[in-house]
Amino acid sequence: MSWYVHHVNLQAHDVRQAAAFFRDIVGLEEGVWTYPDKTGEVGHNPNTIAYFGTENRGLHIVRAIASFAADNGFIHNPTIGGHFALCVPDLAAVKARLETAGVAISDAGVYAMAGIHQLYCFDPSSNIVEINQVVEPSGGAGPLQDAVHPIRKEPGDWYIHHVNRQAHDVPTTAAFYNKLIGMEPGIFVTPSADQIGDFDRSNNSLAVFGPENRGLHLVRGMATFHVDNSLMHNPTFGGHVALTVPSVEAVMKRMDRAGHLYSDAGTYAMAGMHQVYTYDPSMNFIEINQDIN
Ligand SMILES: [Fe+2]
Ligand SMILES: [Fe+2]
Repeated sequence: MSWYVHHVNLQAHDVRQAAAFFRDIVGLEEGVWTYPDKTGEVGHNPNTIAYFGTENRGLHIVRAIASFAADNGFIHNPTIGGHFALCVPDLAAVKARLETAGVAISDAGVYAMAGIHQLYCFDPSSNIVEINQVVEPSGGAGPLQDAVHPIRKEPGDWYIHHVNRQAHDVPTTAAFYNKLIGMEPGIFVTPSADQIGDFDRSNNSLAVFGPENRGLHLVRGMATFHVDNSLMHNPTFGGHVALTVPSVEAVMKRMDRAGHLYSDAGTYAMAGMHQVYTYDPSMNFIEINQDIN
């Protein structure tokens, strides 16, 4: 089944401060959100949402709204703690499999993004997952592509490389994405022996979905990961989003100038990628990387 990471949603305490970080330090360009004709109780204004990308794909930065689930009749509140969204070609089939498996879902219908039918649930590691489908390509959502999570460059010349989610039980969580969502497992491609870092890549600690390390990474939290790899930041806790940019050196220079702390991991986990870790102003863990092939 073809699928792609449609967007990643990050909770921000100060949306404008977070937006400034992604615009001025990371180098992304702010985009324009497209609401459907009939909007749900989303309650957003420029101080509660910032957006980077096109056709509502990309990065969503929102302030938590405590009443969001109650306002919309949902079980899940997607504004608290952030989430990520997978776009699938047949949401009805996914919904049927989730219901058969007894997974609690919030079927939001088309309520926040033009032409997109959205559904929320928790994966077995309690990560909130949005699953959506483009139901009206003419509504500005764009057609579903044939390839799995293809590279999609957004204004500012960046793309979502992968989403990382912490899993308490990697095999069980991987089975959820495989059997219920319908995603095929991928292969994690590591750098050469002289470059590779010190981390557990067994099936109990790591599962990936998507091509060439792009897509979804499920990892077990590893307490000493950052120490073992001489990093300030530990990317195995709390999940993160990885953005591929044209120049990590330029981003690091801007972080240096701003006194913003980061870990330059170099090429150590993924073949041909230079990886840098940092926190955004709301302490969301962010990976910024560059394809150096
Ligand atoms: Fe979302
Ligand atoms: Fe990562």
